[in-house]
Amino acid sequence: MSQITINGGKPLIGRVDLKGAKNLVTKAMVAALLGETKSILLDVPNISDVEVVARLLELHGVKVEHDPFTGNMTLDPSNVEQARIVDIDTHAGSSRIPILFCGPLLHRLGEAFIPGLGGCEIGDRPVDFHFDVLRSFGAVIEKLSTGTRLSAPDGLRGARISLPYPSVGATEQVLLTATIAEGVTELTGAAIEPEIIDLISILQKMGAVISVDTDRVIRIEGVKKLKGFTHRALFDRNEAASWAAAALATEGDIFVGGASQVEMMTFLNIYRKVGGQFEIEDDGIRFYHPGSPLQPVVIQTDVHPGFMTDWQQPLVVALTQAQGLSIVHETVYENRFGFTDALNQMGAKIQIYRECLGGNPCRFGQRNFNHSAVVSGPTPLHAADIRVPDLRGGFSHVVAALAAEGTSNVSNVQLISRGYERFITKLGDLGADFEFKA
Ligand code: EPU
Repeated sequence: MSQITINGGKPLIGRVDLKGAKNLVTKAMVAALLGETKSILLDVPNISDVEVVARLLELHGVKVEHDPFTGNMTLDPSNVEQARIVDIDTHAGSSRIPILFCGPLLHRLGEAFIPGLGGCEIGDRPVDFHFDVLRSFGAVIEKLSTGTRLSAPDGLRGARISLPYPSVGATEQVLLTATIAEGVTELTGAAIEPEIIDLISILQKMGAVISVDTDRVIRIEGVKKLKGFTHRALFDRNEAASWAAAALATEGDIFVGGASQVEMMTFLNIYRKVGGQFEIEDDGIRFYHPGSPLQPVVIQTDVHPGFMTDWQQPLVVALTQAQGLSIVHETVYENRFGFTDALNQMGAKIQIYRECLGGNPCRFGQRNFNHSAVVSGPTPLHAADIRVPDLRGGFSHVVAALAAEGTSNVSNVQLISRGYERFITKLGDLGADFEFKA
């Protein structure tokens, strides 16, 4: 378990550069399985989620080459083959992406085995939508003690599918299964996050016929075969928002190279309301503290184009320094405020409520989930010994330690490398005062 000892109370100042979005790149790698020729993906970050997907692809005969410096990755699926269950199982619990292998493997091999899933513990994270979707296409699903076995005795056929909630993963499941299924698929209630639109762009480059209609409707006309793609991945807007919040919380000034305005509009509005300043350039966005007191805000996380659930955790650290009561209503995951315990230990005043605070009721309101937070500021933060609980919560812990006076020990920081490339090096580039023990 790696640990970082941080001497806090110093502003982060400097530049960090982004690569492609974790939540697109890993799916694009799975899409390469559908092609009959080699794919080239550019700007692939060197993070452990990418590693896990690369290893799983290799187990299935895909040749993967990744240059971690340039971010160039080639994926050659010309020899896709069945993997041994015992080998697949070694990746159990390491990521959520394996669930997206189902459609492509069923198409390529007629069957698939998916290990037990991992990912952050931020709620139950069921996969019922995924399995319902796959059954609509004609898949037969058998749950085993170690994982899930799928087959498609009659092939996969297009279907009319309606999602009960615009799930990112389930929408990707539909896209990755429908493109070479026989016939037309119509998906209503689809997620339309920029990462999904980027995945659709990739599939279109491969030869798919997909239209995104109004009101969350996506239509896919199945084609017989797909070829490989060359694509530069969309930048990681979650990482961009994380560094933006870190600049605010530490009274710093960070230029985030590769960040772009359109995909971050909702974040930028909130950042401005809190009092954060930003300057949008052609090659990135500069985020900085105004030098004057921060203002409280009301935030409700939501599906796109709403305020992303992955943006709230680091921003909550900055809100502990705002003058007054801020409200954060989490409507995407039922249990995403566990990270606030450590912030309270460091002097923050954050209370969690079961009620839907902030105005709009959500599906968690009647179900007793602790999903609203009230942050009372400003509260000076002091050092503490804390443990990273999950990816975004963990980033917020590190930001809190950087903002706090004194020396904090943050353990379990290797979890952060699941989604943040060269995290420790970037902290150094921004002038943080710390010692890292791997
Ligand atoms: N849901 C179900 N059943 C399902 C699928 C989802 O009930 O079968 C529920 C979830 O429990 C959740 C909601 O639907 O309450 C939304 O989940 P969604 O499927 O949209 O999330 P995901 O695909 O599992 C991706 C990102 C998350 C990000 C969400 C929302 C990846 C690998 N993960 O998760 O990213 O928060 O979309 O935008 O793409 C992160 O990067 O730290 C992270 C958690």
